[in-house]
Amino acid sequence: MPFIILEKCTRCLKCVKDCPASAITIETGDISDACIHCGHCVAICPEMAVRPDFGNVFLLQPYSVTSKDFRNLSSGIRSCRSFLNKDVPDAVLLQLVENMKHYPSASNARPLQISIVRSKEKVKLLNDLTADTLMRMFTFLSSPLISLFIRLFVPSLNINRIKHYKTLFSEKQKVNDSQICHHAPAVMLFHGEVSKTSMAEADANIWATYTSIYANTLGLGTCFNGFIVKAMRKKSKLNPQFKVPANHKVYASLLVGYPKVKYRNETSRESPIVVLL
Ligand SMILES: Cc1cc2nc3c(=O)[nH]c(=O)nc-3n(C[C@H](O)[C@H](O)[C@H](O)COP(=O)(O)O)c2cc1C
Repeated sequence: MPFIILEKCTRCLKCVKDCPASAITIETGDISDACIHCGHCVAICPEMAVRPDFGNVFLLQPYSVTSKDFRNLSSGIRSCRSFLNKDVPDAVLLQLVENMKHYPSASNARPLQISIVRSKEKVKLLNDLTADTLMRMFTFLSSPLISLFIRLFVPSLNINRIKHYKTLFSEKQKVNDSQICHHAPAVMLFHGEVSKTSMAEADANIWATYTSIYANTLGLGTCFNGFIVKAMRKKSKLNPQFKVPANHKVYASLLVGYPKVKYRNETSRESPIVVLL
């Protein structure tokens, strides 16, 4: 629990008003167990009278990312599918993980764990097992009986497109032995316990997105990987091989490495439809 040093407190009530859980009784300095440990009370206190659950409090550092900088950074970030044959040092990978403490999480539950696959053999294994799973899924979905069922009952699933993917995938497989992982030196898996109430999937995609942006500022390239997420479902046979606990599911996956290609031009990526109400 965070705690309040009442001798330092000036009763400005900033913490009380900003607490999303209404957990603070300033008269007594009590913080109830409704606290979600978000640290807003610690972050807002002008006297540093509210102390965190653990660690210390520091003044926020000034930064100089203008809106134009962020816009330009976003426009330059592309999915990287071509990596230099160069390892990402563990210190850099851990730097990416260390910063995750700053990323938002539903109810501040922070249910995620990260596994980083970063040996050539393991990345190859992840690639091959995911490719096998994907091919089995394509084969199953495009079998005559199942495709008939899908055409009748799930018409939104385009069977012809699945068949096309299957052919394309197995053709490419002959010339590219890393169609899933693209020889990335590191693959991050964002996983968490499976639960009906948790928002781990949303957290994972947000954390992976922040990580991708941070990684790009460090000169790295990244690519989200939905194939790995599909393959590493709950109780997938792949999971134990990559130290994903039995009750966990992989919710997001990010390839990370130094990019071989550099993009020169800003292209038009469609903005979403907006409705102003
Ligand atoms: C949730 C998600 C899953 C993705 N999965 C894959 C994937 O499995 N393989 C891949 O090559 N790219 C994957 N991508 C990358 C998209 O194809 C890519 O973002 C899109 O084509 C736009 O290109 P850009 O990121 O360079 O702007 C994924 C992207 C997202 C957001």
